[in-house]
Amino acid sequence: MKNILVIGSTGQIGSELTVRLRGLYGGAHVVAGYVHGAEPVGELLEGGPSAVCDVTDGEGLARVVRQYSVDTVYNLAALLSVVAELKPRLAWKIGVDGLWNVLEVARESGLSVFTPSSIGAFGPGTPPDHTPQDTIQRPRTIYGISKVTMELISDYYHMRYGVDTRGVRFPGLISYVTPPGGGTTDYAVDIYYSAVRGETFSCPIAKGTYMDMMYMPDALNACVRLMEADPARLLHRNSFNVTAMSFDPDEVYHAIKALCPDFKMEYQVDAVKQAIASSWPNSLDDTCAREEWDWQPHFDLPAMTADLISRLRQRGV
Ligand code: SER
Repeated sequence: MKNILVIGSTGQIGSELTVRLRGLYGGAHVVAGYVHGAEPVGELLEGGPSAVCDVTDGEGLARVVRQYSVDTVYNLAALLSVVAELKPRLAWKIGVDGLWNVLEVARESGLSVFTPSSIGAFGPGTPPDHTPQDTIQRPRTIYGISKVTMELISDYYHMRYGVDTRGVRFPGLISYVTPPGGGTTDYAVDIYYSAVRGETFSCPIAKGTYMDMMYMPDALNACVRLMEADPARLLHRNSFNVTAMSFDPDEVYHAIKALCPDFKMEYQVDAVKQAIASSWPNSLDDTCAREEWDWQPHFDLPAMTADLISRLRQRGV
């Protein structure tokens, strides 16, 4: 039986992943790690143990790992791309110094570690279409620079110390539970909230800007499936390209309009977000993930749109 610690359990991914993992492995076996100011509530608090777990505090992290006999860590602590540009030092402290603490505890205690990378780990020199698994990675955002560093150090700990590190390069993640906050791909979440509320959506990303995207249920499957994968099959570790769809603002607008005919969108392009979006790939090639651990998404744009709109309506958004 696994004992799992989710660091960042109250964030966009963590809030849903923690619940999914508790369903799979039992509530008592999944610790919801959080930082002060982002305390778990409701299902997250009641469904199993929770503990203060700040990646910048290595000793505190080691204590939680010992207390709950943790053998697997989902390290989801991060600042997203736009907010990281405003606080570059903090982004590095969490994404790189924090990762170092996680990996040191993993080395000492024999933990498996999942850390998500991102499409942000690519940059202007990267082939933008069908971006290969192994290619040029020269990002210009501190978010991307810290993600590339994370990929390299995680592989280093695997090669040098045998630590079981694994990760995926997530595209923009779209969900109806916890909002992302501070990312370049957030528009693809915000647009659904506007549509369901009957508001005109003001789009910060220009028409024709394609980025990879994924619905959260597929992202959760990726997290679980990769950590369950047979290590003998893994030729790569950190981090696998994964994608489910690629669209520009116009395509998602029309997908929504098919279900909400009165929906309106206007463009108010944000220069900072647009520069970041333009430096990221249009579409990833995720063949290696498909071959090495049977990655397969279930939701395309129309299926996600139908599900998301009905869920948001059910929630009374
Ligand atoms: N969703 C992230 C962001 O926009 C990218 O991984 O920052």
